[in-house]
Amino acid sequence: MPKKVTVIGAGNVGANTAQKIAAKELADVVLVDVVEGVPQGKGLDMLESAPVEGYDARITGTNGYEETAGSDVVVITAGFPRKPGMSRDDLLLANYEVVKSATEQAVKRSPNAILVLVTNPLDAMCWTALKVSGFPRERVIGMAGVLDSARFRTFIAEELNVSFENVTAMVLGGHGDTMVPLVRFTNVSGIPISELMDKGTIDRLVQRTRDGGAEVVKYLKTGSAYYAPAASAVEMVESILKDKKKVLPCAAYLNGEYGIRELFVGVPVKLGKSGIEKIYEIKLQDDEQAALKKSAEAVHELISVLKQKVQ
Ligand code: APR
Repeated sequence: MPKKVTVIGAGNVGANTAQKIAAKELADVVLVDVVEGVPQGKGLDMLESAPVEGYDARITGTNGYEETAGSDVVVITAGFPRKPGMSRDDLLLANYEVVKSATEQAVKRSPNAILVLVTNPLDAMCWTALKVSGFPRERVIGMAGVLDSARFRTFIAEELNVSFENVTAMVLGGHGDTMVPLVRFTNVSGIPISELMDKGTIDRLVQRTRDGGAEVVKYLKTGSAYYAPAASAVEMVESILKDKKKVLPCAAYLNGEYGIRELFVGVPVKLGKSGIEKIYEIKLQDDEQAALKKSAEAVHELISVLKQKVQ
């Protein structure tokens, strides 16, 4: 039996995620959206690229959830994208309702699925999905750190004119302005970047990483990034479906790790067929720990707003 992945939200991120999953033959894909015709049309269009690209994966577009039954992974991208001048946090309440309803409907039909959240504000949407689904924390994971790290890796590779593949980076914390790029754990083929760049350059690239989402929004004007977010979500889905056990920075629900409780924060995790198979608690230096704490406080503030509004 082929694996099955449901992608909720057939917009820019969702459609690209669905297409990449099919093209890599990771699973059959069900694409869900509230707008009539859009998931059906995009799904059919993707399917018609299968003979040309040479992949065998079914893609079904739908406005309902019947077809999603028995999914191994559910990727939630449904929501409103960030507009210029709008912070991720402005999206909070609007996207809460969307993620709540998508989660309820999906988990009813796929009670054993692993949920991968993409909708922003990410850490708060993960919290919403965890609470609504009642799933264990191993099966609710947020996509943020892979994307933030990919941006940092891109900027470093460009700066040094080296292969993008050679750059490894670790960005922790919330998916927002307080994210924590860990310079100490960032290297080019094992060479720490501090050996390759001066502090001023590193600081500039760290800041560009923090502003990475906004930089794309500024160009696009009417939407937010989607190629790199989709690629990042697919890397997580692939590690889960193939049980690759990749170690990736993902938003995970912490129960005391890093001194943080009952919040989703980006940390290094091992992703395999059970979802999060391990949370790595690396020893941080004082400044790194302080930055992570500050980032967690920002996530905590959002969750407090949500709790007040929705209870
Ligand atoms: N159920 C299913 N789909 C929904 C729902 C819902 N309740 N509400 C909205 N949608 C759909 C919209 O119809 C739209 O097709 O979600 C899709 C969102 O797509 P885009 O507007 O293109 O947004 P996108 O760029 O894909 O971003 C989606 O990912 O990276 C984050 O910040 C981004 O939160 C945003 C999300």
